[in-house]
Amino acid sequence: MKIAVPKEIKNHEYRVALTPTGARELVARGHEVTVQAGAGEGAGFPDADYEAAGARLEGDVAKVWSEAELILKVKEPQPEEVARLSKGQTLFTYLHLAAEEDLTRGLMESGATCIAYETITAPQGGLPLLAPMSTVAGRMAVQAGAHSLEKAQGGAGVLLPGVPGVAPARVTVIGGGVVGENAARMALGLGAEVTVLDKSIPRLETLDDRYQGRMKTVFSTADSLEEAVRESDLIIGAVLVPGAAAPKLITRAMLADMKPGSVLVDVAIDQGGCFETSKPTTHAEPTYVVDGVVHYCVANMPGAVARTSTQALTNATMPFVVALADKGWKQALADDAHFAEGLNVHEGQVTYPAVADAFGLDCVETAKLIG
Ligand SMILES: NC(=O)c1ccc[n+]([C@@H]2O[C@H](COP(=O)([O-])OP(=O)(O)OC[C@H]3O[C@@H](n4cnc5c(N)ncnc54)[C@H](O)[C@@H]3O)[C@@H](O)[C@H]2O)c1
Repeated sequence: MKIAVPKEIKNHEYRVALTPTGARELVARGHEVTVQAGAGEGAGFPDADYEAAGARLEGDVAKVWSEAELILKVKEPQPEEVARLSKGQTLFTYLHLAAEEDLTRGLMESGATCIAYETITAPQGGLPLLAPMSTVAGRMAVQAGAHSLEKAQGGAGVLLPGVPGVAPARVTVIGGGVVGENAARMALGLGAEVTVLDKSIPRLETLDDRYQGRMKTVFSTADSLEEAVRESDLIIGAVLVPGAAAPKLITRAMLADMKPGSVLVDVAIDQGGCFETSKPTTHAEPTYVVDGVVHYCVANMPGAVARTSTQALTNATMPFVVALADKGWKQALADDAHFAEGLNVHEGQVTYPAVADAFGLDCVETAKLIG
């Protein structure tokens, strides 16, 4: 199969959809891999490494797209990329269509087959192509929070682990899912005193069991949130209510009870944020201060560690890429019901119910297309 890897063009996106290791595997299976010149540079993968892996480098972006049967990307296609797609091509990438009507309609008009990373499920539950980025963001949240606690960043001037004779900082993580567990784990590793709040008792049980009581687990209520606000040096927001905007768990009024120079890291900012005073920021200017509290609200945290993120993402996508390349989209989806959940748009029709519902469009069952 002819597989293309364009260079990402979304602002400050440095990840790439295929590493040289992945290219080598696809070439070894008899596929033709074309990589746009410079596509891997931002993630530390030079063109020469793709060439050595057997891929062909192409400088002309129009050719990269037009000659491909399967196009691998990271971010949702930008308008100029949508215009390059055509019927008969398969696009495999993050799409997040339910919030993007123009993109949905653009992909329908292209006639292409569009499979979204984020709606593929796993037999054991969860979203296997979203989890690696949540893991990265969770781990980064503590790094970002610790840095923001430094005086020069507007923070209180507190060192997370403390030192002998000085108590460690208190870190509260709201939401103990993939992001939250990874954040809590990092904070524990750095020697902070860690509390995780969640609404799910099974989740709190898992964390309590896994960490043998080394982190406190607390049921999330208005009371426990107020206590967290009063006591914490660093609060990490990591909640997710599937299909809904994040609930505003800390209001502006509550900031008055926080210690001056304490820090809020809102990882849920990509779903609107779970603090009332959160607004999306970028890596260029990640923080701002409201009522003496430092806010870190970067919506694409994994972008800052593009190399690690690329490797983590491609480790997870590679088995699906191999299936698409070896069997074609129809057979690959027919063989794997969890992979089939990834199909969002095919030849002008929406195939994912939540996307169709969001825009009042008809939905065609994937099973009818692949059966
Ligand atoms: N900013 C970024 O770069 C970035 C990167 C990756 C993920 N995210 C976001 O991080 C958030 C968390 O993702 P995840 O993968 O960990 O989700 P997840 O589903 O694994 O975990 C979410 C947790 O929140 C809990 N929760 C829901 N409502 C709550 C409440 N009121 N109080 C306390 N806990 C509550 C759930 O029970 C669940 O355990 C999502 O919004 C996701 O989009 C952001």
